[in-house]
Amino acid sequence: MPQSIQSVRKDYQKQELLRMDLPSSPDQLLQSWLDEASSIDPEDYNAMCLSTIGADGAPQGRIVLLRSMDKTGIRFFTNYESDKGKGLAIHPQVCLTFYWKEMERQVRISGVAERISTADSDAYFASRPRLSQIGAWASDQSRPVSDESLESRMKAAEERFLNLERIPRPAHWGGYHVNWQSLEFWQGRPSRLHHRWKYEKNPSGWSLTQLDP
Ligand SMILES: Cc1cc2nc3c(=O)[nH]c(=O)nc-3n(C[C@H](O)[C@H](O)[C@H](O)COP(=O)(O)O)c2cc1C
Repeated sequence: MPQSIQSVRKDYQKQELLRMDLPSSPDQLLQSWLDEASSIDPEDYNAMCLSTIGADGAPQGRIVLLRSMDKTGIRFFTNYESDKGKGLAIHPQVCLTFYWKEMERQVRISGVAERISTADSDAYFASRPRLSQIGAWASDQSRPVSDESLESRMKAAEERFLNLERIPRPAHWGGYHVNWQSLEFWQGRPSRLHHRWKYEKNPSGWSLTQLDP
């Protein structure tokens, strides 16, 4: 008999997040949490919920994969003509959320997304497996599947590039860099007294505030 959803409870107690654990720059903490998460779940640790404002003004969320980060923010790749791409062209503000269940941790990032250079998108596209590259040509991401099935579009794209060693990147596919403005780190604690710390960017660096759980 499955347990009633109302009675499912977990007491978070694995770790603490104290002021003395916090580096001056949040990218260092995010990198160390990503490193730890990758040792537990090497395949899915870089999955994050990307929340955007749709072209119609309504919120939308979906999972995308973090592909790289630096001191200013993080990058993901997608179809620029997808629903998210259309929304981002009007409202570039985004929120990114990671949840690492085994570590009892969440990170929430707010920032502004901008398209990366075509050269950087080309370089990443070239590193993808050939069938993923062909898939980027075949899929009209977020559009209703037409009479022509996805499989037949895939086959047509495969045939189109049959004699090409290097498949070019479609102009509608590429990366975004999210320039982060704030990052909030959440560590689950017993009795719901979780530890939350928020870094906010200001002209002289980062401010740090502890938030009530
Ligand atoms: C684990 C996982 C990883 C995903 N990674 C990506 C990704 O990196 N880029 C992407 O465009 N979609 C990715 N998706 C698919 C998106 O969640 C989404 O279905 C797609 O991008 C269309 O979103 P949209 O219609 O809101 O634009 C992923 C889905 C899952 C479950």
